[in-house]
Parts: sequence; C-alpha cells; structure tokens
Amino acid sequence: MTTLSEYITDLDEGLAKIILAVSGTTDTIFASLPHRRGAAGTENIYGEEQKALDVWTNDILCEAFKATGVVKAIVSEELGEPWINPEGGKYTVSIDPLDGSSNIESNNLFGTIVGVHSQDELLVPAEKLDVAFYNLYGPITTLVLASNKGVTEFVKHRTGSTDYHVGKENIRIPEKGKLMGLGGAPYKWTDGVNKFADYLKDEAKLKVRYGGAFVGDINQILYYGGCFMYPELVDKPQGKLRLVIECGPMSYIIEKAGGASSNGRESILALKPGEVDERSPVYVGNKDLIAKLEEILKL
Ligand code: F6P
Ligand code: MN
Repeated sequence: MTTLSEYITDLDEGLAKIILAVSGTTDTIFASLPHRRGAAGTENIYGEEQKALDVWTNDILCEAFKATGVVKAIVSEELGEPWINPEGGKYTVSIDPLDGSSNIESNNLFGTIVGVHSQDELLVPAEKLDVAFYNLYGPITTLVLASNKGVTEFVKHRTGSTDYHVGKENIRIPEKGKLMGLGGAPYKWTDGVNKFADYLKDEAKLKVRYGGAFVGDINQILYYGGCFMYPELVDKPQGKLRLVIECGPMSYIIEKAGGASSNGRESILALKPGEVDERSPVYVGNKDLIAKLEEILKL
C-alpha cells in the first residue's frame, strides 16, 4: 500500500511538509474529539478548561503549519486577522479548521478544509491553488487531496502511525449524478434557485441527501455524483459559505475530479476574493447540472 508520505514525494517539498503537518495532527485531534465536545468555558473529563472545539483545532493546526518553516501566512475562520510570518515563507494556507461544527453536538460529520497557494498576494482565485484537501473525521478518517496528480483519497489507519494509505486513486465524479444536497431554508430560495431545484428533482431525478457539513456533503458528491448547493437566498444574496476557506478549496477538488463549480454565473475558481471572510453562493457537481443551473439563473 502506498502511503501518503510516499505519494507526495514528487510534489514540491514545502507542499509535502504542509500536507504532512495536517495529517500529523489527526491522532491528536481525533482522540480529543469526544472529551472536547462540551461547551467552551467548561471543564473536560481531565479537568482541563475547554476551548470551543473549533478554536482548539485551529490552534493545533496553526502550530503545525508554523513548525513547517515554509508557511508565510495563515488565513483561518478562527483567526480574526490572518497570521503573517515575520520571517516570510513560500506558502499561504487557508483553513476551515472544523467545518460543520454545528454537527459536533449531534455527532454527525465534520472535518478540516485546507487550500494552499504560493502567489505573492494573500487572497487569490482558487484556480491558483497548488493543492487543496480536506480531512473527514467520519467513521473512517480520510484525507482527500487534489493536486497536479489528480484527486486521491487517503485512509487513516491505526493510531501510532501518523501516516495515511491510499484508499482510492484518481477519483472522478461518476458521469451520471445520483444525489442532491441542497442547503438553506427552501422558503428563502430565490425563484431561480427554486426552478433549479425543480429541475434536479423532476428532470435529473436525483435523490435527496444533505448532512449539514460542507466536507461531508461534497465528499458524497465526489463518490456518487449529483449536485451540492448552498445558494443565494432572498435575504442573503451571497449565501452562507466562505469563498476563501470553504468554497474555493472544495470547488478546486471537485473540478480536479472532472466536475464543475459555480457561483451562479461563473466558476468559483475564477473568483478573486476581496475580503478574507467574503461569502459566495456555491453550486458544485456534475458538469451538465452546473451548466443547467447557469442557464436557469440567466433567464
Ligand atoms: O461552515 C458552515 C457550515 O457548517 C457548512 O459546513 C455547512 O455546509 C453549512 O454551514 C450548514 O449550514 P446549515 O446549518 O444552514 O445547513
Ligand atoms: Mn465551514
């Protein structure tokens, strides 16, 4: 079995260090999830004061990135301001340390999303990413990596080894999509979004599956095809999800697997973020479905 560290030997050394920095924290994060599940400000079963789990995860990941010596900036959902390395570095890393955190209480899926680029600016369109990947802390913990080698799933095996092993190589979205994961309250969908949802239901004949964690909802589209959206809403035209830390990296992964992404008009990968916390409507999945979406929203 090829390990993650073997698989990434032909990537740039700095990129490999960043990927291994994340995979190296899995045991720590995963082992702590159950007893760090309580509310922030309370004590865990070891008598330690609890930070919110997403803040704690952010701290662990940021320390691991800083230790690589190759990270020049970190943009994170949990940092008020980006961290800038006074000593410089080659890579800017964006993270959503614990995506799907509203699923913690109910023990549904959540994960970590990472995007990495080596451009001069802090914020770049996702098409300029060097790699993007996510960790899914599911019943099986996986790391799904999109790089110039395609999209590959790695599986975390026994504790004691920080390495992962290749689970599935060269992942491609199935040609005919099966599932739809549609976010946001339907009564807040715009007319265009309602028409697209009708198309998915009546013409594409997709089955509903929505889990409430972007990582999980995108992961199932990668395996079964179909469409995920967190769309424009009547009171929130930009939707809910963040362009830099969520939509960009995940759209990069979907497009590398042969799918498409859109904000309703163009590929998410082409969008230049103006702000760290900018939001965007996001629609991802099979190319034919995303083309249909753009056609419907134009009407
Ligand atoms: O990070 C935000 C997030 O938790 C995503 O993981 C997920 O796609 C979305 O919000 C879920 O939102 P809602 O609770 O509105 O379905
Ligand atoms: Mn998130």
